[in-house]
Amino acid sequence: MTTHHEQLREKLIAYVQDAHAMESQVLLLLTGLIETTHDATLKRALVRHHTESEHHLQRLQDRLEALDSSASLPKSGVAIGAALGKGLLDMLRGDKPSQNGRDAFVTEHLEIAVYQFLERMAEAAGDPQTADVARRNRRDEEKMARLIARNWDRFFQLTLVEAGLAA
Ligand SMILES: [Fe+2]
Repeated sequence: MTTHHEQLREKLIAYVQDAHAMESQVLLLLTGLIETTHDATLKRALVRHHTESEHHLQRLQDRLEALDSSASLPKSGVAIGAALGKGLLDMLRGDKPSQNGRDAFVTEHLEIAVYQFLERMAEAAGDPQTADVARRNRRDEEKMARLIARNWDRFFQLTLVEAGLAA
């Protein structure tokens, strides 16, 4: 018979696997954003966040191994494109800089939400280390989300430039 605690523990492992799959997808997305962002300031921020995201992934991997060495790492898991409603987003006007700003903003907030629940699940399952990883990772996502939110004008200006409509 599985106890309540064991069930929570299993749930927690599934949450960590999902977060791990999410971070793998985020790395791919960030790589794409870096390639298509020609503004130096934004590119630098994206590159920095890519490095941070590699750390996020590693911390989750470490927790997975600590929680259950037999737990397999999800190969693809949550497709962030699907989570973003990418099909729908791609139907919106495809001006690259605004598309990138939108995708980055939505992604960071998705990550923030995932880490909020991961932190709580870890606490419920009595795993303070995983709760700590969730908090640390979330802090970086919040920082990145704020950076994007400070740069709407820049994304918009780049959109005008790209469309040949800059004043
Ligand atoms: Fe992340």
